[in-house]
Amino acid sequence: MSRKLPVIAIDGPAGAGKSTVTRLTAEKLGFKYIDTGAMYRAAALITLRRKINIDDESAVGDELKRSRIELKHEDGSSSVLLDDEDVTDEIRSPDLTRMVGPVCEKEVVRRILSGRQREMGVDGGVALEGRDIGTVVFPDAEVKIFLSADPHERAVRRWKELREKGVEVELIEVERDIIARDKRDSGRQIAPLKKAEDAIEIDTTYMTIDEVVDRITAIVESYMKR
Ligand code: DC
Repeated sequence: MSRKLPVIAIDGPAGAGKSTVTRLTAEKLGFKYIDTGAMYRAAALITLRRKINIDDESAVGDELKRSRIELKHEDGSSSVLLDDEDVTDEIRSPDLTRMVGPVCEKEVVRRILSGRQREMGVDGGVALEGRDIGTVVFPDAEVKIFLSADPHERAVRRWKELREKGVEVELIEVERDIIARDKRDSGRQIAPLKKAEDAIEIDTTYMTIDEVVDRITAIVESYMKR
């Protein structure tokens, strides 16, 4: 299928800078921005609030199909709405974050959410970030980027982000969580985190956000000139 504007798939581990970089790149190009991790986080919140046993896949699927998860971007800030309620901060709490792994491993959850992500991006002009965008959701994405960074640096970035939001947490705890999530995301059976063969890898450890955004924008622009 040929699209007028490309789909940009940006994958990588937690804390590699995906959210900020993808949002700014999308803004610069005038593309839509889709944070797929926020959708998995909202799915975990649904199971928590409605007390669903996550091993009961049909109950999880029914609740998820019934729920509306919306990603909003206005004036440079993003919010996540679950059935019209703003859950932006709640889905980023350390406790909820620990719950996302087991929920996002469920086949039914991945099927429903990746289907929604495809619908949102199918016409192109969109930048999606996640773990499996270039491998599973849009294996035909025109531009694929894999962002990586040293685990300690990723933990420091996450820790600063949490502290800015007033969440008191030890750096060592964040680093432990990041390493556990890497292991879980890369080791799972369905849609594991891995670099697509045709993705361009960018190690962001020693790069500023602007440098990464400029690099990706240049890659996209050179694709569009072809
Ligand atoms: O990017 P994030 O930290 O907000 O992602 C939250 C969780 O969702 C993380 O444990 C990995 C998972 N995830 C996923 O499995 N597939 C995606 N496309 C995006 C996120």
